[in-house]
Amino acid sequence: MRACVKKETYVERKACGEKEKFTIEVEGVSRKFGKNQVLNQVSFAVEEGEIFGLLGPSGAGKTTLVKILTGQLLQDMGNARLLGRDTRKLGAAEHGQIGVMMDNFGLYDRLSVYDNLAFYADIYRVPRDGIFGMLKEIGLYDAKNRAVCKLSKGMKNRLSLARAMMNQARVLFLDEPTSGLDPVTMREIHRVLVEQKRKGTTIFLTTHNMFEAESLCNRVALLSKGSIVELGRPGDVCQKYNHLNKLRVTLKDGEEVLLENGGASAELMKEYLEENKIASVHSTEPTLESVFVELTGTSLMDTCGGAGDAHFAKRLV
Ligand SMILES: Nc1ncnc2c1ncn2[C@@H]1O[C@H](COP(=O)(O)OP(=O)(O)OP(=O)(O)O)[C@@H](O)[C@H]1O
Ligand SMILES: [Mg+2]
Repeated sequence: MRACVKKETYVERKACGEKEKFTIEVEGVSRKFGKNQVLNQVSFAVEEGEIFGLLGPSGAGKTTLVKILTGQLLQDMGNARLLGRDTRKLGAAEHGQIGVMMDNFGLYDRLSVYDNLAFYADIYRVPRDGIFGMLKEIGLYDAKNRAVCKLSKGMKNRLSLARAMMNQARVLFLDEPTSGLDPVTMREIHRVLVEQKRKGTTIFLTTHNMFEAESLCNRVALLSKGSIVELGRPGDVCQKYNHLNKLRVTLKDGEEVLLENGGASAELMKEYLEENKIASVHSTEPTLESVFVELTGTSLMDTCGGAGDAHFAKRLV
């Protein structure tokens, strides 16, 4: 067996058969721009293969953190590691394993859809054969010869996502991948992301859309003014702040009844069920938006598209 004395990187540790629990590790990361403390002692870790959502309103510091994690910006304090490597020292081995999707990032307006992907296939040294399949997967096959400047915003977003996936990245960083998109295009992108997760890709995404976070993410971190105010599985976070812990029962005659969520309500529920009186039953757990407002006094939704599409919150993963 090969001796593994110095195991600097994720790749080397993997080669030694070591299991890496965390793909991204962040410890006490802070960053200022002038006097503006944009990130303040941020700490969390992302497990391999999960979809991790960084949820926060405009200006919370999401893009700044993505830039630090991908080596585009240095923090003032704290440590961040990506695939086991200090993000201040990322090299070709790590860059070859990540895909990044940010606003206006890496699309060439005058090149066609196909040529944009062909350009990146050549850079990443992956065969061009996979491009048509990728275009079909993201629904851009029919637009393959169209110049990027003639695409809609949703089409550009999907192309940007395809570009980020060209190298079959282990880790995808997606900065507001569905911002400003209609619900149908948003769902198409979610379908692609769920498929990526199924293949084992770790996905780090930012959003200010709580429906996106609730339906798509395994875990979320709520970021407010540069600090993480809550972190966990969306369902667990909402349950934690379910102070009322009751069942809201709407009867077919329109009456709404608030019942204890426990044995004390069993008799009455049984009666309602036997008499076929129930129109709907909901628990009183809050949404991520309500939790965010409770913790910070501000809303996530100030610039969010797609709000109000309650069906969206159906879990996808
Ligand atoms: N290069 C920079 N120089 C100065 N200030 C910056 C710079 N980049 C970001 N900021 C400031 O840092 C704060 C956080 O910006 P950031 O882009 O990280 O927020 P965000 O959460 O991504 O917001 P949005 O949802 O609008 O994209 C903002 O006040 C912004 O003006
Ligand atoms: Mg941003």
